[in-house]
Amino acid sequence: MIIQRIPIKLDELDTSMTPEQRELAQLAKDYLRVALMYESATKEVATKLDILNDEFQALHSRNPIHSIQCRVKSPYSVAEKLRRKNLAVDVQTAQDNLFDLAGVRVICSYIEDIYTIASMLCQQDDIHLVRQRDYIQNPKPNGYHSLHLIVTVPVFFSDKKRYVPVEIQIRTVAMDFWATLEHDIHYKSKGPVSEEVVRELTACADVINQTDIRMQELYHKTLADKEQNDE
Ligand code: GTP
Ligand code: MG
Repeated sequence: MIIQRIPIKLDELDTSMTPEQRELAQLAKDYLRVALMYESATKEVATKLDILNDEFQALHSRNPIHSIQCRVKSPYSVAEKLRRKNLAVDVQTAQDNLFDLAGVRVICSYIEDIYTIASMLCQQDDIHLVRQRDYIQNPKPNGYHSLHLIVTVPVFFSDKKRYVPVEIQIRTVAMDFWATLEHDIHYKSKGPVSEEVVRELTACADVINQTDIRMQELYHKTLADKEQNDE
């Protein structure tokens, strides 16, 4: 299994002196103090997922998790989100109001793997589920599919234990393909995309979702056929 770690981009720290940039520079400096805690929390979650994946492999001879990506939100994105929410741009406000400073994205093979992994993780007694948003049962109007969890996980340091919030996005390879390219298309357009593009993206999400469902049915059919042949 591939575990990717996306480092904080410190080159986003611009030191020229407009008030906005000064605010960002201060945030970036203070953020370094807490970034280790969020990075550690993503490692705790990734290790738990890795163990669940290995156990599933031992029991069922296949991996439900295709890959895991971990990232700590960059100071630039933190400042941008705080401004978008009309909040003060400082580390304490970010810690109190943003629950995706630590993020883990889990890419699964089949839709049912998403729920299996989420429930196995949340059953662990040191994991506390804060919020769940199911954009698979209730996709966003644009077609976005994914299961989002916010959990807290204990992180042990030499002198203290902290419960750290982590946003976990769990989706299939196909859902991830759509989300990545949809994000890319919005990013490249550097402004709102046309209504036609929005409609087409939603249509693509629908095709992808139908395909995900068919692939899962094929998997079950193959298992049933094999069982019959073995009898
Ligand atoms: P944010 O303030 O953006 O974090 O929104 P939220 O706190 O209401 O959380 P939500 O569950 O809506 O989405 C959080 C994250 O999910 C985003 O930062 C994206 O990574 C991802 N996401 C949500 N909606 C979309 C979407 O329409 N397209 C793509 N590509 N990603 C999305
Ligand atoms: Mg977010």
